[in-house]
Amino acid sequence: MYNIVDLTGRQILITGASSGMGRETAILCSKLGAKVVLVARNEVRLQEAMSNLEGDGHAYYSFDLSKVDEIEDFIKMVVSERGAMDGFVHSAGVGSTRPLKLLKPAALREVMEINYFSFVEIIRCLMKKNAYNEGMSIVGISSISSKQGNQTKTAYCASKSAMDASVRCLAKELADKKVRVNAVNPALIKTEIYQQFLNNSGESEDAKNIMQRQYLGIGEPIDVANMIVYLLSDAAKFITGSCVDIDGGRLSS
Ligand SMILES: NC(=O)c1ccc[n+]([C@@H]2O[C@H](COP(=O)([O-])OP(=O)(O)OC[C@H]3O[C@@H](n4cnc5c(N)ncnc54)[C@H](OP(=O)(O)O)[C@@H]3O)[C@@H](O)[C@H]2O)c1
Repeated sequence: MYNIVDLTGRQILITGASSGMGRETAILCSKLGAKVVLVARNEVRLQEAMSNLEGDGHAYYSFDLSKVDEIEDFIKMVVSERGAMDGFVHSAGVGSTRPLKLLKPAALREVMEINYFSFVEIIRCLMKKNAYNEGMSIVGISSISSKQGNQTKTAYCASKSAMDASVRCLAKELADKKVRVNAVNPALIKTEIYQQFLNNSGESEDAKNIMQRQYLGIGEPIDVANMIVYLLSDAAKFITGSCVDIDGGRLSS
């Protein structure tokens, strides 16, 4: 049967692949024929994700992306062991809830390092000779928080706005190399980050308001993975520099 989202033979690097949307994307990529390289810190959860992949040729690496200065050597090692990449998905990320009085530079930096600096640094390292194949597609998992402000969310929202801005810039800069760069911007999706949100502010007026505006309910990781694999595939060959909302109607209401 004709399949517009065929990833046969493609090698995709996925950060944050030990849980949530990264894990779901890795599983879906494998079902569509891709070889997947999973990255996160927790080895047990990485192995669990690996055991759910279809096909063979997959690999996982335990690495802490907050060590931004070590990413260059890490990517060099991954590429020397696995070969060039056809896709990169940055799903690694941390939530952050901090009022301004607690938002010292170190706290701001911690969120930016994982959610944003590592995204740009991995792309920089993948753009070296023999590290990527022509036609590569890059997808960052941003958030609708890049477009909506909220109290105590300065660090998180800034990290996602920075990702969106970089997607627009890098898409243009890397077009000559035949590399596309996009982001997806989910609203609330049922993962651990959502669980943290419920624990911190599930009963608040703010939370009730959000649930009302997100009128299709809370999304599932597969809702985001479906869009990511589309953007990774050649079916999306005319899409670059875009930030695609996956928000159950939230920004429209
Ligand atoms: N869930 C939502 O409602 C929602 C909405 C919009 C956007 N997002 C964004 O979507 C992305 C995925 O989130 P999720 O909801 O799927 O969350 P999740 O289930 O908590 O997954 C986060 C992933 O990031 C990895 N990670 C965290 N810190 C890391 C570090 N220092 N080094 C390497 N890996 C690290 C975690 O793995 P280890 O712990 O094993 O390292 C985990 O695999 C995040 O960027 C998040 O901001 C989430």
